[in-house]
Amino acid sequence: MAIDDATIGGQRLVIEETGVPMDKLRVQAFSPPQPGAGQVLVRMLAAPVNPADLNFIEGTYGVKPNLPATPGVEGCGVVEASGAADYQAGDRVIFLRRAATWATHTVVAAEGLFKLPPAIDPLQAAMLKVNPATAWRLLHGFGKPQAGSWIVQNAGNSAVGRCVIQLARELGIRTLSLVRRPELIDELSRLGGDCVVLDDEAGLAAAKAALGGATAALAFNAVGGDSALRLMNLLREGGVHITFGAMAKRPLTVPNGLLIFRDIQLRGLWVTRWIENAPDAEVRAVYAGLAARVAAGTLVQPVDSTHPLDAYPAALARLTAEGRAGKVLFVP
Ligand SMILES: NC(=O)c1ccc[n+]([C@@H]2O[C@H](COP(=O)([O-])OP(=O)(O)OC[C@H]3O[C@@H](n4cnc5c(N)ncnc54)[C@H](OP(=O)(O)O)[C@@H]3O)[C@@H](O)[C@H]2O)c1
Repeated sequence: MAIDDATIGGQRLVIEETGVPMDKLRVQAFSPPQPGAGQVLVRMLAAPVNPADLNFIEGTYGVKPNLPATPGVEGCGVVEASGAADYQAGDRVIFLRRAATWATHTVVAAEGLFKLPPAIDPLQAAMLKVNPATAWRLLHGFGKPQAGSWIVQNAGNSAVGRCVIQLARELGIRTLSLVRRPELIDELSRLGGDCVVLDDEAGLAAAKAALGGATAALAFNAVGGDSALRLMNLLREGGVHITFGAMAKRPLTVPNGLLIFRDIQLRGLWVTRWIENAPDAEVRAVYAGLAARVAAGTLVQPVDSTHPLDAYPAALARLTAEGRAGKVLFVP
């Protein structure tokens, strides 16, 4: 189905140059183009603000913006017009490839889309691409731990951390999560976390006591600095320490002894690289499984607030607001 450009008044957020997101974003009106052969015009339903989006705007992400650029690494939308046989108006989709989702509409190649189960909640679906898949890869991509064994992670309250807790529980893998705030201990325990402690030296001692002599097969690091080191100290000999985020913006310092005597392995994960390099059938099979869990309500990421595109200053302000209780999303 074709749509006359003039019938759609679109809106998107753009940056002309990289820098501090609050300073560099602006709202732009545009007329979404008709999809060409093999393309699809998607009307956006929701798109979250992820740390990666902020890094993209700052120019510090693994993909540099092709300026001027519309940010948004993920989101959920509904097909409005299609030039591809596999997609029809009304299909709900997410984007496995970069799609500039902070907009009312986006035109993308159909081959980068993933079709969602119809009943899925659009806010939860908008957050499906990045964090659930990252948690999945952390648990499966470095030698899946045996049921009953432990993994350890920091930023336990992050969206990834919560996905790790939910997916690990299903696999029978036990999770030890480090958090910054005491009120999160009960909350993450209710979610299914086996052990939740504060991310400080007292917390490390409590973690060792809780493990009772056991050590972890894998450590998932989204913080860096001292927190990353605490995770290393909970790893077993030959255990794998995977860095996938750097919330504290501090480098890893690795004591010589942990390499010489414990032979811990330092690895990294970028889910974008997995999506781009893994066989398409494997990627789609993982997303089908994750989408089914999201649709069933067994894999949930909390939502703090939703904002129209032109309220981006309020959306960005929520990111650092005290007591933020989940993801901030745009609902164009
Ligand atoms: N490599 C990849 O492919 C990949 C994929 C997904 C995510 N990530 C990364 O994973 C991390 C988490 O992402 P997300 O979307 O799950 O995050 P999120 O839901 O926005 O949560 C951010 C988390 O970071 C914690 N935090 C914030 N500032 C911190 C600081 N200065 N020191 C220590 N902790 C801090 C927060 O603690 P509170 O809970 O106390 O507020 C919260 O738990 C980010 O670094 C992101 O870039 C990487």
